[in-house]
This record gives sequence, structure tokens and C-alpha cells, in this order.
Amino acid sequence: MIPFTMHGSHILSTGSAVPEICINNDLLSTVLDTSDKWISTRTGIKERKIIAENQSIIDLANIAANKALHKGLLQPTDLDLILFSTSTPHDLFGSASKLQYSLGATNAAAFDITSACSGFVIALIVAHQFIQTGIYNNILIIGADTLSQWVDWSDRTTCILFGDGAGAAILQKKQQNDILAFEINTDGSESQQLSINYKYPTKTNSKPNINKQFIAKSSQQYEYLTMNGKEVYKFAVSKVPYSITNCLHTTSLKAKDITWLLLHQANQRILETVANKLQIPMDKVLSNIEFYGNTSAASIPIALDEAFSTGHICNQDVIAIAGFGAGLTWASILIQWSTIEQ
Ligand code: UT7
Repeated sequence: MIPFTMHGSHILSTGSAVPEICINNDLLSTVLDTSDKWISTRTGIKERKIIAENQSIIDLANIAANKALHKGLLQPTDLDLILFSTSTPHDLFGSASKLQYSLGATNAAAFDITSACSGFVIALIVAHQFIQTGIYNNILIIGADTLSQWVDWSDRTTCILFGDGAGAAILQKKQQNDILAFEINTDGSESQQLSINYKYPTKTNSKPNINKQFIAKSSQQYEYLTMNGKEVYKFAVSKVPYSITNCLHTTSLKAKDITWLLLHQANQRILETVANKLQIPMDKVLSNIEFYGNTSAASIPIALDEAFSTGHICNQDVIAIAGFGAGLTWASILIQWSTIEQ
């Protein structure tokens, strides 16, 4: 029998990119019945960056990926796999293969993962499986979303929340293992709380006309993003602390051992409530929501990249990361950051 060895996953490098167009709360207040005061006190958001008409999600992902490759001293051809986490692809057949081509990552398999704001954490966990089993050496994980293209800009209850962006991380096979624990959860019974539904043709009583139906179907589109904010808020603050605690229980660590709490940047009040429930002080909570709003799958890797680049995250720091959102899905991962190769 061939002996089976598990390998370690090491986060080699990170990268991120946001568009240049900046929409601040004051600007939004000139076109919507809202105010900087309402938005900043209820959400913590001051501004968000949105993609230009001639830009695509692939452009953003490409910049973030190249930064991660550069920092990791890797060539695109060193990549074995690309996992592209997005819910806003510019092609419903997927974005990963387009990114593979634009990077010139000719040796990499590539596919998409759709799991909204939990997407990056879930992609990281999926990548970890391929590394642990020894299948791949270098995996590029992208979290990118352009929800500005999917929200109704006249709906003040949703459009004020979202921004566009992309984040990247490279997971590498090593002897050391940076990933201490993880869990993924889904509650599909609550999926209606946050969705972008397919717009079905309106039913008529007239005799079906196959040709007409096909023509009508081929021009169908999606509804705008809809969200029951209060329910999603309650879901996040109840499930996320429990999920992080579950991860801690599978290790010998306690909440006090967490150096950084990195949550999906949905609402500053959610970050505060979760931190409070876990008895983690706010100076250990990473937050950049003020500048980008909710960038869905991109929010965690952008914050991770910024915290690492600015020297906040250091060698051996324990980072508790949790994503949550549409699905409903939520996923947590505990990482011990290592900057020194073993
Ligand atoms: O990434 C996916 C995860 N998403 C989330 O985690 C989002 C979770 N939910 C939230 O963050 C919050 O529920 C929101 C920020 C979306 C809303 O905050 P809220 O404190 O729950 O406000 P609300 O929906 O209860 O609305 C309070 C009032 C309402 O007016 P009335 O009915 O009290 O007269 C709204 O119509 O605020 C009004 N309102 C606004 N007013 C000014 C709602 N949106 C706005 C706005 N500007 N943009």
C-alpha cells in the first residue's frame, strides 16, 4: 500500500485591487433620500469604490493576482490551480478560465466558486484540501465582486452598502501548516433573505408558443439584489461567534489567543457585536469598511492584504476569519500567520 501523507498549507502572499471611482456618502445623498449621518452611524461606511464601464471583474482580479504573484516571487506558470470566488461574474459560465488566460497561468486548472460573501473563506478551505492531499503545490485564490452592477441605485436600503473590489492569496504546499481549524455552514431555508433572482418570464394564459418562449427566455435578465437587512443582521451576529468558537474548540486556543479578528466587512455594528460576544477588544478587529463598503467575496482578502502590507499582521499571529451572507452561508477559518519559511 502507498503511504498517505498529509501536507501543510502556507499562505505565501496576498494582493488586492479596488477601482478608482469613489462614491462618498455626500455624493449619494444628492441623488437618494439618505445622508452621510445615517449611512455612517448605521453601517460605518463613508465611501465605496465602483468599477468603470470599460473595466471588468477580470481586470480587478488580474491586478490583485499579479500583486500576490509578485510578492510571492512566483511566475503565473507556477500556479497549479486558480479558484475564483465571485457571485458577479461577467460571464455566467465562469470567470476563472478568463483570469487564467489573462494571467498566462497556462499550467493551472481554474474554476469558479459561488458563495457570496463567504466565498473567499470557502475557496481557501477548498484550496487547503487540494494542498493537504498533495495534489497541488501553488493555488491562487481570488475573492472578487462587482455588486455595483447588480444593485438598484435608486434603492437606498441596499445600494449604499456595496462597493467593488478584488483580493488574492496564494496557498502553497509546505511542511508547516498555517490553517488550524475551519468550518462551513449553510442554511438554504433562509436563502430568500438575500438574493439576486433570475427574472422568470411572466406567465400568460395564452397557448404556449415554443419559438416565442425561447426568444423571450434568451433575453431574460436578473432581478436587482434584494435583502432583508434586519434578518441578515440577526443571522450574522448569532451564527458567526458560534462558528468561530467551534473552530477554537478544535484547537487548544481560546478567544483571548486571537491576535486579529477579520470578519466579512458588511457593517461596522456587526463587527462590534461579534467582537463583543467573543470578548475580543476592538483594537484586535480589522476594519476597512469605511473606505470600501461591503465588497462581498473581496472584503476579507482586501482587508487581509492591507493588514499584512501595513505591518499589522506579524509572524505567528493567530487570525480568526469569518465570512457570512447570501445562501445563507457562513464559514470560519483559524490561521496562524507565518512569514518565516520552515
Ligand atoms: O454581505 C451580506 C451581509 N449583509 C449584511 O450583513 C447586512 C446586514 N444588515 C444591515 O447591515 C442593516 O440591517 C442595514 C444597514 C441594511 C439597515 O440598518 P437597520 O438599522 O437595520 O435599518 P432599518 O432597515 O431598520 O431601517 C431603519 C429606517 C427605516 O425607516 P423607518 O421605517 O424607521 O421610517 C428605513 O426606511 O431607516 C430607513 N432607511 C434609510 N434612511 C436613510 C433605510 N435605508 C436608509 C438610508 N438612508 N440609506
